[in-house]
Parts: sequence; structure tokens; C-alpha cells
Amino acid sequence: MRDTLPPLRDEPVPAERLAALQAQERERFLTTHPASHALAARCQHHYLFGVPLHWMRDWPNPVTLFVRSAQGAELTCADGHRYADFCLGDTGAMFGHSPPAVAQAIAAQAAQGLTCMLPDARAARVGEALAERFGLPCWQLAMTASDANRFVLRWARAITGRPQVLVFDGCYHGAVDDTLVDRDPATGATVRRRSVLGGVHDHHAYTRVVPFNDLAALEQALADGQVAALLAEPALTNFGLVPPQPGFWAAAQALCRRHGTLLVLDETHTLSSGVGGYARTHRLQPDLWVAGKAVAGGLPCAVYGFTADVAARMRRAKEAAPDGHSGIGTTLTANALALAALEAALAYLHTDDSYTAMNRAADALEHGLLERLHRRGLPWTVTRLGARMELQFMPHTPRNADDVRRHAQPALEANLHLFLLNRGVLLTPFHGMMLCSPATGEAHVARLLDAFDAWLAALGR
Ligand SMILES: Cc1ncc(COP(=O)(O)O)c(C=O)c1O
Repeated sequence: MRDTLPPLRDEPVPAERLAALQAQERERFLTTHPASHALAARCQHHYLFGVPLHWMRDWPNPVTLFVRSAQGAELTCADGHRYADFCLGDTGAMFGHSPPAVAQAIAAQAAQGLTCMLPDARAARVGEALAERFGLPCWQLAMTASDANRFVLRWARAITGRPQVLVFDGCYHGAVDDTLVDRDPATGATVRRRSVLGGVHDHHAYTRVVPFNDLAALEQALADGQVAALLAEPALTNFGLVPPQPGFWAAAQALCRRHGTLLVLDETHTLSSGVGGYARTHRLQPDLWVAGKAVAGGLPCAVYGFTADVAARMRRAKEAAPDGHSGIGTTLTANALALAALEAALAYLHTDDSYTAMNRAADALEHGLLERLHRRGLPWTVTRLGARMELQFMPHTPRNADDVRRHAQPALEANLHLFLLNRGVLLTPFHGMMLCSPATGEAHVARLLDAFDAWLAALGR
């Protein structure tokens, strides 16, 4: 097929051309978003960086985009512009914004109590549904995926009596001190991520970091029997999308077993792989399994599941500890609203029908992007994981975080985001990630592809 296509062109976009295009797009955004601009100016007085969470400024648009409403696969901004949303709240809204079943369950429960620090009858049904959907027998809840990961690491250290945790270079598991680390490429040592604020945690002493897809490094890190848990996403999704190589997880799982290390899969993002997540879809058998964000349809809620063996060890650890704070749990965790949303999500969102629709949209998007890259001879890559994909400015699927670092083009990426935003398409701000919901239709995909065509033309490609 390549013979009939133009030769691959790998020359970079000239910096002046990119800067001029970015300036033009910034101007266009400001002109077309006066209401967002006015709200941004007002919020500047009472919010740090003018937003209720400082990340909300980590988008490439010159002022914050303010939302009027979000429904299904679309978002409407304060200026009334409608966007095809492929960011979907960075996965919180993976099943679409405000799915009716979840919205109704929340509304019904809201009139009957929000939080009591006690379970209601629904808890029994939710426990059964979690076990049925995700394939692990025992469960605990948390408010966020960050919390769930934090608690899982605490349990893992408590039940193994081992101090170390192991993560992959380029990982992100939320605001969890143990995991906010990088691997020093020269020495392989664990170092605190340079962007982390106020860090005092001794990362070097308690966290090990190895490259993803590197079984030899993994084995070496596990060999001394000091690692309580390997905490990993089945594919890296937060540092560019980096899929596991064939056979990697079967071998990694066997290594964990051999060395007595618990395998914890954080499926907060890879839930997009298929019903029940990547582990279920690919028949992996983690000791513990975590999901947050979309698990309850976007209401703050996270879950972690574990095997009967792990549950028995947890019980023994808790019973052996003195009475008092366990350091695991928060007051609002498993509140009535979260359980109501979770029950509705398990029944109506985590279904074959949802994933069929998501994958149909993702197939069309992947095909459309690849067709455009081939037609123009662009040596870029589209990496896919179920309903999620990423456009990568590199000629091959990345193997690990270093591969992604080597090919990073942040200015080009920022320009793509802003250009598409100005044409009614929202991408995840941190990299070229696109996620399809069950509500994503042909028209949304077509809008993205048309805007992408226009962007390539503006770049002179
Ligand atoms: C894999 C993974 N785990 C955990 C988290 C943290 O989720 P939250 O911010 O909801 O705590 C994220 C957030 O992006 C994530 O991608």
C-alpha cells in the first residue's frame, strides 16, 4: 500500500511557522470566547491562578474555557459554542457526560440522605455487582483513584511486611507520594519528579522504578524479596500511550508470583480496554485491582478489589494491629450518593452495549486519522487501547517512557489542541489523547477529522 503513497516526510514543522499559527489561534480563541474571558477575569480575584483547581489552567487556550453544560459526548461553553468532547473529563466522563441512569440514581438518593458513615441495603447489591463485573471477590471503596492507590499500597506493605513499592518509569497513579517519581536515566536511581511541590517523602528509600516492557529490569528489582507490590497500569496512559509488548504481562505476572510481590493493576484509564477493564479482557490475574474516575459514571468514587487470599491477609493484619486509626479510608468514602451512582453505572454503563458503541466510534476515528497520515506521508503513529487512542509524533509505537521523551514535541501538541478547540473539538490537554464514549457518533468523529485536515493544511503538511 505504501508504494502508491507519497514518501514519508519527517522534517519538523519550522518553529516560526508554528509560533505564528499559535499566535493566530490564541487571538481567535480570545475573540470568540468573550464570556469565558470575562469569567476568567472575575475568578482571578478569588482563586489561585483564577481556577478552583490549578490544573484547570494547564490547557493551551489563552484563558480558561468555562463550561455551561455537558451532555453525552458534547460540551457547551459559556459562550454557547458546542464541542465534540474527546477529553471526557480526562476519563471521568468516559461513558458520556451525565449518563441518564446515573443522573437519575443520584437525584433519587439525594433526597434520602447523602452520607451517614454507614452502609445501606444497596451496599450488598453493589458488592455482588462489583464481583460479577470485575471478577474479584472482595472490595473496598475510596473517593478517588489517588486515595484507592494510597490505601492499596498501605495494605500491601501491611500484609507483606515489605517496605518497597515498584512502579514503571512514566507512571501516574494520582497524588500518591510513593509514585511521584522518575527514573534517573544515567543511574537508574529513583528520583522525586521535579515538578512535585513540597515533597519530603524519601522516594529513593521506598520506591523502585524500572522501564516499562523491560522484564530483565523487573526481575532484578524484585529479586531481593523486598518489594511489597508492583503498582502498574496495564498500559502506560499518562505519559503518552505505551502498550505492553506481546507476552509482557504474562511474564511480569509470573515474576511477581515467584518473588512474592503483589500485582496491583490500576485500571483507572485502561477501563477503556473492554468490559471489566484490561485485566478481564486479557485474562490477567492481579492480586489487587483499582479503578476510579468513570467507575461510578463520573461521580467521585473509586474501588479496589482483591483476591480471597489477599482479603484473608488483610483481615489478619487489621486484627493484629492495635485499635485506632488505620490510615486507610476517609469520612465521605462509600457515601450513599456514591453507592447509588456506582450501582447505576455497574448496571447500565459497564456493559457490552457501551463498549460496542465506544469501539465503533474509536474504529472510525483511528481509521480516519491513519488514512490522513498515510495520504500525506506523515511518519506519525496512532496508538490504540480500546476506546482510547493517541496521536504520537513519532514513527513507531513507543516501548517505554524514554521513547516518548525522545520524540516529545510540546509546542506542536499545544498547537493541535488549540487549533481543534477553536474548531469545536476538545482533546485531553496533557497529550494527544482521544477517548470515545458510547454517545460519540459519526458527526463527532467527522468534526475531529475535518479539523485535523485543516490543521495539517495550516502546518503545510
Ligand atoms: C491511572 C491513574 N490512576 C490514578 C489516577 C488519579 O485519579 P484521581 O485524580 O481521580 O485521584 C489517574 C488520573 O489521571 C490515573 O490516570
